[in-house]
Amino acid sequence: MRFRPLTLVLILILCSVVISAAIEPISTGIAVGMAAALSGFLACYQNVLYYFHECCRQEWISYNKSGLEIDLKRKLFGQHIASRVIMKAVTGFINNKNPKKPLVLSLHGWTGTGKNFVSQLIAENIYIKGMKSNYVHQFVATAHFPHISHIDTYKTQLQQWIKGNVTSCPRSMFIFDEMDKMHAGLIDSIKPYLDYYDNLEGISYRQAIFIFLSNAGGESITRTVLDFWREGRDREEIQLKDLESALSLAVFNNKKSGFWHTSLIDKNLVDFFVPFLPLEYGHVRMCVLAEMEARDLSPDEEIAKQVASEMTYFPTEENVFAVKGCKTIGSKLDYFI
Ligand SMILES: *[C@@H]1O[C@H](CO)[C@@H](O)[C@H](O)[C@H]1NC(C)=O
Ligand SMILES: *[C@@H]1O[C@H](CO)[C@@H](O)[C@H](O)[C@H]1NC(C)=O
Repeated sequence: MRFRPLTLVLILILCSVVISAAIEPISTGIAVGMAAALSGFLACYQNVLYYFHECCRQEWISYNKSGLEIDLKRKLFGQHIASRVIMKAVTGFINNKNPKKPLVLSLHGWTGTGKNFVSQLIAENIYIKGMKSNYVHQFVATAHFPHISHIDTYKTQLQQWIKGNVTSCPRSMFIFDEMDKMHAGLIDSIKPYLDYYDNLEGISYRQAIFIFLSNAGGESITRTVLDFWREGRDREEIQLKDLESALSLAVFNNKKSGFWHTSLIDKNLVDFFVPFLPLEYGHVRMCVLAEMEARDLSPDEEIAKQVASEMTYFPTEENVFAVKGCKTIGSKLDYFI
């Protein structure tokens, strides 16, 4: 935690000074003194409480730009475009004192390429408690909203949650996983919160952050990266514009990837589409090393190579991209150590 014990001690001392000064029997009426003592005590008590209990204040919610930059550089592998877009999007939004709408990011790509991980890094660099913060909410379509027959209940519930949470803290973050499996009606029900309204029923949603994760466009992104690879070009040469067709309406509209995007795109409610590239052997190896470091093991190149070679790669002949990306690294590593 960021708070130093010294600060806390100073606050406690200050509190006792205020209280004892107020209790001191000076000529002015005792009642006044008592009142002052009480309010002083309450104010201090509240301030001390803020140190221990998360609340919607700067002590608990403040953007660490260099922290996010370092995390993206050190912990996310093979995603030069996503890193750049995320950095720009989040920094721009948080530094904007008067945003016209909430930040809406849509992350796309093959499984295991880091979409969930990036949401986690963003949360960790805005909220002291990261994903455990009371102001970060994650919804997984198949887990939270599994039955189509309950769609009306889900809609009401989701709207109440968003409204309630943003009311208690404007800087709330909502992550929707498996967006391509989410019912269109449910997506429609959250649309008003993503829009350019000054407020809805007296509540402003403009400080909130929405992150959508999906595999939509993943195949198309992979095709582009594979073309680069076959031409012997450096993957880092790929630019966002090379992937524009992969992230286009046509791709989202095909049956397989779901039609969820149309209504959001039509109204320009998504601020940034962020492509995640499929990962190669070298990236998987780095994921293993990072996982070892996270577990306080000394990094072992040999084990990293072994784990990476155990993964399945595609397309069949060329074996370029890891089918599961870095997803099952953890359990594979358990097996090797
Ligand atoms: C921001 O993040 C960096 C790197 O993780 C860390 O060293 C630094 O202490 C953080 N700054 C604040 C104010 O928490
Ligand atoms: C905030 O969202 C959570 C779901 O993540 C929900 O359980 C909770 O009731 C919501 N809080 C309010 C005040 O609506």
